[in-house]
Amino acid sequence: MTAIKYRTCIIGLTGIGAGNPQEPGMQGFGPEMPRSHARSYAFLPETQLVGVCDLKQDLVDDFVQAWSEDFPMVKGFTDYQQMLSECRPDILSVVTSDNRHADIVVHAAGTGIKGMFCEKPIATSLGDADRMITAIEQNGIVTNFNHTRRWIPHYRMVKQMVADGSIGKLGRIILHFGGPRAILFRNGTHMIDMICYLAGSDVDWVFAELDEGYENYWPYGGDGGRNPDLEPGCSGYIHFSNGVRAFYNGSKGLSPETGFHLIGTEGSIWVDDAGVALTTDGGTKRIPCEPRTISNASSAIREIIAGIELGAPVISPPREARKTLEIILGFLASQKRGNSRIDFPLDESAV
Ligand SMILES: NC(=O)c1ccc[n+]([C@@H]2O[C@H](COP(=O)([O-])OP(=O)(O)OC[C@H]3O[C@@H](n4cnc5c(N)ncnc54)[C@H](O)[C@@H]3O)[C@@H](O)[C@H]2O)c1
Repeated sequence: MTAIKYRTCIIGLTGIGAGNPQEPGMQGFGPEMPRSHARSYAFLPETQLVGVCDLKQDLVDDFVQAWSEDFPMVKGFTDYQQMLSECRPDILSVVTSDNRHADIVVHAAGTGIKGMFCEKPIATSLGDADRMITAIEQNGIVTNFNHTRRWIPHYRMVKQMVADGSIGKLGRIILHFGGPRAILFRNGTHMIDMICYLAGSDVDWVFAELDEGYENYWPYGGDGGRNPDLEPGCSGYIHFSNGVRAFYNGSKGLSPETGFHLIGTEGSIWVDDAGVALTTDGGTKRIPCEPRTISNASSAIREIIAGIELGAPVISPPREARKTLEIILGFLASQKRGNSRIDFPLDESAV
């Protein structure tokens, strides 16, 4: 039996934070593939959840009751600062709305925590993202942002295939992203993050056009993505410094197909959540994928623990998450400026 080594806390007790003990697990998998932060801590024997917090007392009470068997030590709070000083966690999950990550992360970074698992997108402004990064780095907190596809093994395999030259030199990444939740912040952040991961480069500039009806959309005015009507879809272009160009086709009006087409000088790869296909002059073939044995969220937490114990790097650190936010805001800025080119680094205050 693994000894419990890490005390953990969660702030934000809606579905993705709190889950429930009977959670069926990620789509197509069993309970050993938990999606929520709480279920992930329950799955990892080296962690013990000791505190949870939400502004809403009823969510706190419901959580403590529902999870009493799995987390007998857990205490509920409505004030996260009080929770942090009483519970002294080693690892903290921040699962509040997008625009409420920053203050919590900045405060928590100075309380002696060692690791943090924060929801995406990192924040809704670069100013907030930068103060989070400063606090995290100054205090040496091992931090992953929950851009989930980074922990799906076959996306990592595709990055390796590109590095190995299986399609020659990568030139273009084309994202297909449709359906009612093809919105820029809440869900698009996952897609832009994966584009950045696969492109493996800094960004020089972007331009974009938001979906019809959002022509005057600035600044981000959503509620964190609960209501997709408050966020636009978007068609965007990303010019990476290493020569890769990406087309972000994310519109609520398109069919709900989602996947990434990577085109190189000698072939192409299609990757989506179901798998990978490689096309070369020998034809198209499905590439066998490593079976998944652990969920994204559990992998992310395990990685944080490895970072704490061994100094190992995490795959979704703050500066990567910031890159995605800068692109999203760059898309909005382009719309505001007549769909023009926006050079990076983005100066939000000048837009
Ligand atoms: N990775 C994923 O697949 C995934 C899926 C869903 C949501 N998310 C992310 O999870 C986060 C939460 O999403 P949501 O839709 O549940 O948000 P939400 O706004 O509906 O709920 C957030 C919860 O946090 C609580 N909260 C806010 N500020 C707080 C504070 N200072 N102290 C304590 N509690 C506070 C609220 O009371 C609320 O219960 C967002 O960042 C979202 O983007 C990620």
